[in-house]
Amino acid sequence: MTIPNDLSAFWMPFTDNRGFKAEPRLLARAKDMSYWTPDGREVLDGTAGLWCVNAGHARPKIVEAIRAQAEVMDFAPTFQLAHPLPFQLATRLAAILPEGLDHVFFTNSGSESVDSALKIALAYQRAIGQGSRTRLIGRARAYHGVNFGGVSVGGIVGNRRHYLTLPGVDHLPHTYNHAEQAFTRGQPAWGGHLADALEDLVNLHGAETIAAVIVEPMAGSTGVLPPPVGYLERLREITRRHGILLIFDEVITGFGRLGAPFAAQAFGVTPDLITAAKGLTNGAVPMGAVGVANFVHDAVVDNAPAGIELFHGYTYSGHPLAAAAGIATLDTYAEEGLFERGAEIAPYWADAVHGLQDLPHVIDIRSCGFVAAIEFAPRDGAVGARGKAVFHGCFDAGLLVRATADTIALSPPLIATRTHVDRIVDVIRNVAKGVA
Ligand SMILES: Cc1ncc(COP(=O)(O)O)c(C=O)c1O
Repeated sequence: MTIPNDLSAFWMPFTDNRGFKAEPRLLARAKDMSYWTPDGREVLDGTAGLWCVNAGHARPKIVEAIRAQAEVMDFAPTFQLAHPLPFQLATRLAAILPEGLDHVFFTNSGSESVDSALKIALAYQRAIGQGSRTRLIGRARAYHGVNFGGVSVGGIVGNRRHYLTLPGVDHLPHTYNHAEQAFTRGQPAWGGHLADALEDLVNLHGAETIAAVIVEPMAGSTGVLPPPVGYLERLREITRRHGILLIFDEVITGFGRLGAPFAAQAFGVTPDLITAAKGLTNGAVPMGAVGVANFVHDAVVDNAPAGIELFHGYTYSGHPLAAAAGIATLDTYAEEGLFERGAEIAPYWADAVHGLQDLPHVIDIRSCGFVAAIEFAPRDGAVGARGKAVFHGCFDAGLLVRATADTIALSPPLIATRTHVDRIVDVIRNVAKGVA
């Protein structure tokens, strides 16, 4: 691979562009569990790319499906016309979604899935004669992508403060409490009662004004925060009682990350809509999806006057290359039993990562399924500096991790073996020991 000598034109997303371009770290090639840098150095992928390459890199069936589809038909519209692949993929997806969610709306990303789900929720309430329900409830420390709807229900100040957000949005408190939950494996015992804050919002605003609540069943981007025991069940009970739709944003937790196809099944709580992306195509072609409960779909479609029922969609909804990649990805997950892999390896994984507790500056370790976070104490006056030092140190030592502030998140491809887990933990141990 030729390394470009001018890096200035590409304005990189969510990146310290000046820092990166002064000291670039590039990836040139990927296969199975690893990346390789342009100079041929192997970097073990501890993060499935960006939480998306759940089956590992450049898997033959997926590569071949994309190649073959590009030759047969590169693009076909899905507005008032269609091609077979998105129908096939939607049927396959419905088969692994929780029971009762048998309809799929395709998008191109997690952000678009979130905004689509919010719109579908509003359309549903209007369709059943509940048009006063326009309020949307998100949660603090939530990441729902970067479009205006997702930012509005999201709970990360840096992503919100410079932009106008939607009116009529409120937030639940987040579920993390260091004193009560530090060093928990799986779901923390403390915090289920925090779902009752939804009851407070219902009392404040009136249920008849609230359309939907959206949560990540396990918050990913703000540091891997598994739901407290009983929390999701309580949210489900309150939303159902008040006619509020419950949306799970499963852009990270979907496709086997927590030992089941979706977190909904892993935690035994079924929402009304599920947003997905990333692992849907194993990250190989951009694609997102919203899984929709039958009663929501039927209300919107059957109650509409003749003609278009939902005024929403993307040029690339159900794109042939993405749909082909999605079908091949679901085949790969099924053939290799990868949704079960997360559950199988979870106890070994938890032992391995929790074994890092004695490292200097570690203030918490959280794990759930095949995900974990290691949180370091911030340096005085330099939040994020320690996390960045660990991220860079690991990369230079041959391991890709993800740093958000001073938290290192880990989510290896589901094909990882115990040997890979040992290597991940060894590199982090050696690097973190040397980080002041
Ligand atoms: C829970 C959640 N929702 C939405 C998104 C946005 O997805 P995308 O970056 O594909 O727009 C992400 C991305 O990490 C996510 O973690």
